[in-house]
Amino acid sequence: MKRTSANGGSSSERDRPYFIKGWPFLGQLPALANDLIGSLRRFAERDDRPVEFKIMTSNAYLVSSPDGVKEVLTRGEPEFTKGILTSSMKVAFGDSLALENGADWRRKRKLLQPLFMKKSVQAWRPIINSNVDLLVERWSHRDAEGSVVNITTEANHLILDIMTTIMFGEDMSPERAQAAAEVVTSINEALFGVFCRSFVLRGSVQNSKLAQGKKFRNALKKFNDIVDHSITSSTAQPTSTLIDQFRLLKSSDGDQLSEKEVRDEATAFFFAGLETTANALVWAFYYLASHPNFADRIAAEASELSESHLPDFDEAERLPFTHAFVMETLRLKPPAYALERRASSETKLVQGCPLRKNATVILSPAVTHRQTEYWEEPDKFYPDRFESGSKSPQHQFAFFPFGGGARKCIGMHLALMELIMTIGRCAQKFEFRLVDDQTVGDKVGVTLMPDRDIQLILRHRRPA
Ligand code: HEM
Repeated sequence: MKRTSANGGSSSERDRPYFIKGWPFLGQLPALANDLIGSLRRFAERDDRPVEFKIMTSNAYLVSSPDGVKEVLTRGEPEFTKGILTSSMKVAFGDSLALENGADWRRKRKLLQPLFMKKSVQAWRPIINSNVDLLVERWSHRDAEGSVVNITTEANHLILDIMTTIMFGEDMSPERAQAAAEVVTSINEALFGVFCRSFVLRGSVQNSKLAQGKKFRNALKKFNDIVDHSITSSTAQPTSTLIDQFRLLKSSDGDQLSEKEVRDEATAFFFAGLETTANALVWAFYYLASHPNFADRIAAEASELSESHLPDFDEAERLPFTHAFVMETLRLKPPAYALERRASSETKLVQGCPLRKNATVILSPAVTHRQTEYWEEPDKFYPDRFESGSKSPQHQFAFFPFGGGARKCIGMHLALMELIMTIGRCAQKFEFRLVDDQTVGDKVGVTLMPDRDIQLILRHRRPA
């Protein structure tokens, strides 16, 4: 369906959001519960104004035009604060950066930002290198003519190993590393439940009540024990782990994180950095396997750099096609498929649309990244659109896999380093093919993931 353009409609019509009627009492809840991303895409197709709909008794707006996205993200607080879905995560992540608003958020962002600057994250390059080396080494022993790997498991383990080493150091015992791996899955499952229920119940039930599931509490306790153990041992002998860096952070005016804050940040960063990056990596491998021509270009680009040397981060800057390939993956399969804000007062967007006080505002990369006004053949996987000099994206906020404005993902440089290095190295050494040509669908949890484990046939790449 063609959307009403920004210039269409009478001015009085265009001065208000486009309202979509839903079921009595339930509003759009059944449609969203049945197919979240599909429903949001259908809503956005109706009009380029904010689209208003009801979820039970509360009002929500989908803002899908890049101009609207830009306004919400860059105007930020106090008009647009993190909303109810975000606060539902407090049961797991306490008062951490990702969940805070106002002065508390500003204080933490100022303290933590220096650790995640592009230059700073290079300190983690050896950790990524050695973990990818281990993976490549392990795969090298497989049958050169082809063997099957479960890339979902492999990618998740790789990112978990990298994140565990960054956070807790090299010498974490295998038992604790295993415990961390197990709790990640159960906390994620439980969190999605908390996430959905709080959306429906709109905070009318205390988060603590929502999180009374035994599995969730046990998983969280196990993880907190791992964090506490690490804090205790590093207090005796500080190391270069991220936990220690959190502990030792000090601003110019002497401000520091308290012990509870260090613990909350450790938990939040661990989880924020895991599922998002691991799922992006799974999708990237999927596209490598389904587009051998692009995989060949990535391999050639990596090999051009130096015959004997595999790409690392400095070189990743000189791997424009690999970078474009990762960007195109994040465009079509953005792990953070929807961002949420609360309109803290009655406000207007530039397009003139008033938004009700306390309404939920949804911005969805999964929707905006596929709009035909901004992307040619939006459903096609075509990395060249991101190569420098190309026209896409036509609008800065037509592409926002890491959000934007002051709250843009603090872990972006780390995530890109992990993705580019892994894809570059693996494509240089191996060829991948899908085991079958069954279409892989989307599954929405806390992040966007494939609807099943992806199996790939792996072959040693022959020198060109
Ligand atoms: C491909 C991987 C990743 C994606 C797609 C992603 C996406 C995002 C997005 C969209 C936001 C903004 C949310 C909003 O505005 O509501 C965000 C925030 C955040 N991300 Fe990431 N992220 C990724 C990796 C990471 C990593 C590796 C870390 C840390 C190790 C991390 C830590 C955070 C934190 C702490 C915030 C909150 C920042 C704040 O509110 O100031 N993310 N991420």
